[in-house]
Amino acid sequence: MRLLLINGPNLNLLGKREPDLYGSSSLEAIEDSLQLKAKEIDVEIDCFQSNFEGALVDRIHQAVDKVDGILINAGALTHTSIAIRDALLAVNIPYVELHLSNPYSRESFRQKSFIADRALGVVSGFGMMSYQLAMDGLLSYLREATK
Ligand code: DQA
Repeated sequence: MRLLLINGPNLNLLGKREPDLYGSSSLEAIEDSLQLKAKEIDVEIDCFQSNFEGALVDRIHQAVDKVDGILINAGALTHTSIAIRDALLAVNIPYVELHLSNPYSRESFRQKSFIADRALGVVSGFGMMSYQLAMDGLLSYLREATK
């Protein structure tokens, strides 16, 4: 099983960026801990972060025929990007939307997601644990689907 973890704009600053909201772990630490857990169960995860919408679209396109499922924290692009939505639908790979914070408890402009309605599920509000929970959910769906 192979997964792709995508992180969007400003998530490269995790650990330094608004730690009260997003926690004190760096993105590297989050990726490392996910990779470690995945390795234990024989799952591979490619990790990709970009601050550029087009780079994220390109990376999603490259996943065709290579990846079984996508975990995506699109950051602010969650709330604005039809291009990210279209890319996810174009490749037709099951995905889980995730967030460290709970956007529904924040500003009203964060309460719209352009990708949630076509996601397998959405995990938000659990800090770095959101990544683990999203991976668990995605893997259990994929295992069921390939039975
Ligand atoms: C975020 C929530 C978004 O609203 C915000 O723009 C982010 C991070 C989260 O993980 O909580 O950049 O996706």
